[in-house]
This record gives sequence, C-alpha cells and structure tokens, in this order.
Amino acid sequence: MSHAQDASSATAASTTDVTPLDATIVETLRHLRRLLDDHDYAGVAEAQGPVDLRTGPALAYKFRDASPLSVLLHLFLLGLDTSATTVDGVLTSAMQGGLLTAGILERTPDGQWRGTVQLFAYRGAIVCCDHARARAVPIEPVYSPGNDSTALVDASLDLEGGRALDLCTGSGIQAVVAGRHAQEVVAVDINPRAARFAAMSLALNAVHRATVRLGDLYDAVAGETFDLITANPPFVINQVRTQLYRDGGVDGGHVLRKILHGLPTHLNDGGFAQIVTLLHDFEGGSQLEETRDIASRHHLETLVLTSPPFDKYELAISQLQRRLIVYERYRSEVRDYLEHLESIKLQSCRWAVITCRNSGRDTFEAREGLRRVATFTLNLRAQLTRFYGLSPRPDDPRGGR
Ligand SMILES: C[S@@+](CC[C@H](N)C(=O)[O-])C[C@H]1O[C@@H](n2cnc3c(N)ncnc32)[C@H](O)[C@@H]1O
Repeated sequence: MSHAQDASSATAASTTDVTPLDATIVETLRHLRRLLDDHDYAGVAEAQGPVDLRTGPALAYKFRDASPLSVLLHLFLLGLDTSATTVDGVLTSAMQGGLLTAGILERTPDGQWRGTVQLFAYRGAIVCCDHARARAVPIEPVYSPGNDSTALVDASLDLEGGRALDLCTGSGIQAVVAGRHAQEVVAVDINPRAARFAAMSLALNAVHRATVRLGDLYDAVAGETFDLITANPPFVINQVRTQLYRDGGVDGGHVLRKILHGLPTHLNDGGFAQIVTLLHDFEGGSQLEETRDIASRHHLETLVLTSPPFDKYELAISQLQRRLIVYERYRSEVRDYLEHLESIKLQSCRWAVITCRNSGRDTFEAREGLRRVATFTLNLRAQLTRFYGLSPRPDDPRGGR
C-alpha cells in the first residue's frame, strides 16, 4: 500500500495561493449574506430549480415586482438589468459600492444595475458562478452547479476535523460543504476566474479556514496530504478541448484518471475521496473497470454508486440540448457528436459517485444507487418511500430530494 506522506511536509505550494480577498470585500459579502438570509433568497432560489435560457424569462415575469426578494432574484439569480431607483430601495450605497468593487454588480451604459455573478443556492450554501446568458466578452465561465454537483453534495461524508482538499473547485460548492466540518479547506482550480469566485463563495458562507490555489490538480498541493479529497472534474467527451469546466478529453476520462492516480500520494491513512463523474463504457474497456484497477493497485476501499446505464443517443441529447437555439445548427452538432461517439466505440455511460477510503483494504463494489441525474430532478423512489412510510433503501444517498 502507498502510505500517505506527512502533512507537515508542505512545500512551496502556497506560492500558488490566490491573493486573499480584500477585507472590504469580505465585509460586503458578510452583509450581502445577511440580506439574502433575511429575505430567504436561498429557499426561493433553490425551489425554482436550475436557471437557464429556457426558464429565465418565465422566472423574470414571476418575480417582476419591486419587493426586496424579487430585486435580489433579478440581480443574483437571473442576472437582469434593474433600475437604479429600484436597487436603491434594497441595497445601501455602501453595499452597491462594495459589490461593484467585488465585480458582482456592474453599471450598464444606461445607468441601470446588472448582476454579473449568479448566486446559486443548494442545501444552505450560496455560491458564486456565471449566469447562463451569453456575454459580450468571451470568458472561461465558472460552472453553475448542476445535478452532478448536487449529487456530490448529497453524498458528502461529514468527517469531523482534518484537512479537506477540493480539486476542480469551480464555484467552490464542494469546498463550502467540506468547510462545515473540516478544520482547514484547500480549494484548487486551473481557471483564475473560478479561483476568484470560489474565494468569494467561501467568504459568503463564512468558511474562513480556507485557501484557494490556482493550479493544475495536485501541482498546487505538492507534498501535502488530506483527510478528505473531493472532485467534480470535467468529464464531457469532446474532439477539441474548448471549455475547462466541461471537456474531459477524447474519452472524457483525462482529468478523472489523474485525480484517481494521485489519491494514494495525497490521502492520509484512513482518509476519504469522493468524486462525481460520468463513467464511459467502450467496446473493449470501461472506465468503471479502470477505476477498479487503480483502486485495487493502491488498496483503496472503494464504493461506486452509479445510475443505470444510458446510451450514446441520450448522452448526446443531455450534453447538447442547451445549445438548441438554431435548430439546423443543433441538428448538425448532434449528428457530428454521435459520429464521434461511434468512432471511439462508446457503448454506454453512467453517472457515478466514487468514494474511496485509504484503508489498505482491497475491496471494490459498484452499485446502482444514484438516480439518473441527467434525466430526473427528483428521486422518485425516495418520494414514494417517504409518502407511504416505507423503510428507505440503505443505498439511497441522503434519501434523495
Ligand atoms: C464541472 S466544474 C466543477 C465545479 C464544482 N466543483 C462543482 O461541483 O460544481 C469543473 C472545474 O474543474 C476545473 N478544472 C478543469 N481542469 C482542471 C485541472 N487540470 N486542474 C484544476 N482544475 C481544473 C474547471 O476550471 C472547472 O472549474
């Protein structure tokens, strides 16, 4: 078994720390959080479900009054332009100035306010990510948490104390959840915009024993070890890597593979890793088998909770449906994507939450315990179980939503 190295052997990785947020920005975020909580922003935003180009206009209509909650939702959930007079009724001028400095609000050319950062809410956490709407300036966007992110939150283990590492942190949602119980959190992302957003998310959730580092996976934590490692790596199969948050290389497993291989070096003895991903099955080999081989080679005690498998047609629809703006273009994108999936001999894939413990025990189990997160937003079985007062199945992560 590869034993973890001593945590005290931390190296010069701190040179990659993202500059801590200015004290006035931290203060602004503290005030903002209080205001959001006073108006139950998180409860209402979470109940609306994911906001995208399809759902945005109806939500804007639903919350079109000038109440503080509607104004907060317009700015921070929908990213819409809002008149200065309306905003004056909800945000003090000090808060407006602070949010402008933090880059969370901006002024439009016609003097209105516009929310530039989406505040996504899930299970008590409120995190910063990009809005779905297209921008005039091309950016490397910060992923707005999806069903993959929330599945990992639902499956997260509450380990008291210790050091937590969140790789591929994006909005920082997993780091915020880990920060509820860990003594210290390190969040890593390769995208500078994501690293800045994660730092704001940690402040917004009052997780103060945390650092954010800019870097390529474990390069940012060379020589350091952790009691918990979480990751939601990019896993989408793509011919050309164009978006850091999404593309996982030619077979989708490029980043996942590196994370799995690094676990024995960076996990303390007895430490846990939790990773959410898509696992692909190809003619002649599957990523589930590859995960089993890596786990077995390093004696990682591993449980993989998967969804039922689905085919390349469903994969193409789930990955491309958001791009349906011009039908002819969408049609040709789906055809090109399916041709590519056929050329690499993709047979099926499944959502998976991989949990490994660095216990030295060579045990591996894969179980269908996840809903088809790409298809359903509710865990129907858990709903029925609760409704009829039946005993929940032990393999349901948190009993579902
Ligand atoms: C799917 S998003 C996950 C965000 C967030 N953790 C969540 O659960 O919603 C993947 C993130 O991985 C980051 N990323 C991609 N390649 C990386 C690498 N080699 N090292 C560190 N971060 C990387 C991207 O910038 C992006 O923020």
